[in-house]
Amino acid sequence: MTMAWLGWVGGGLIVLVGLAGLAAVVAPAFSGGAWSPTPMRVIRRLVHLTELRPGEALFDLGAGDGRVVCYVAGASEARVVGVELDPLKAALISSRIRRRGLDGRAEVVRASFFELDLREADVVFAYLSPASMERLRPKFEQELRSGARVATYRRPISGWTPWRREGELYVYRLPDSLSQRPQAGEPAAQASADSAAP
Ligand SMILES: C[S@@+](CC[C@H](N)C(=O)[O-])C[C@H]1O[C@@H](n2cnc3c(N)ncnc32)[C@H](O)[C@@H]1O
Repeated sequence: MTMAWLGWVGGGLIVLVGLAGLAAVVAPAFSGGAWSPTPMRVIRRLVHLTELRPGEALFDLGAGDGRVVCYVAGASEARVVGVELDPLKAALISSRIRRRGLDGRAEVVRASFFELDLREADVVFAYLSPASMERLRPKFEQELRSGARVATYRRPISGWTPWRREGELYVYRLPDSLSQRPQAGEPAAQASADSAAP
């Protein structure tokens, strides 16, 4: 009887842990979008198109398998931060960073990008669901510094005018002048209108 009871409790615990693990892995698909990798040919254009400079920080919001994080850290002298909610993907990125000798230049933060402070970012990259992009837009306007760039793949930001565009890669630049930034409640379109665009 006691053994049977222990068996039930043990089995129940295993099921609970399994369900919790599954929920952690599936949750990002509902939060910001399911995993779908950006093609490497697009990622290779990112450093150039965003004019990422040595010492700047690039954040990949929803870092997936870490391809953006590892490529950009290897191809530039910038600091790269991958933000990933899925614990398995975050562990994979961490191990890729270590195996490629990119410690110190690249890191992964296991968190939701909706909760993360983006004020440190000079460049943000995002390939997410349209709903997430819509939710992130006011956060970008509030937190990103003047001159920061936002690059998105396949997801133009509604109301913003691209500074650059190459195929499905859109790059936006926050205005240099803080006075051009909208206050809460003003239309978002003004936030990205960069008169200094080439
Ligand atoms: C379309 S994939 C993009 C992956 C990678 N950035 C790339 O371009 O190859 C979106 C990623 O965002 C992650 N994600 C979804 N919601 C998230 C959230 N709220 N916070 C952090 N990561 C999230 C998913 O787990 C997935 O790996």
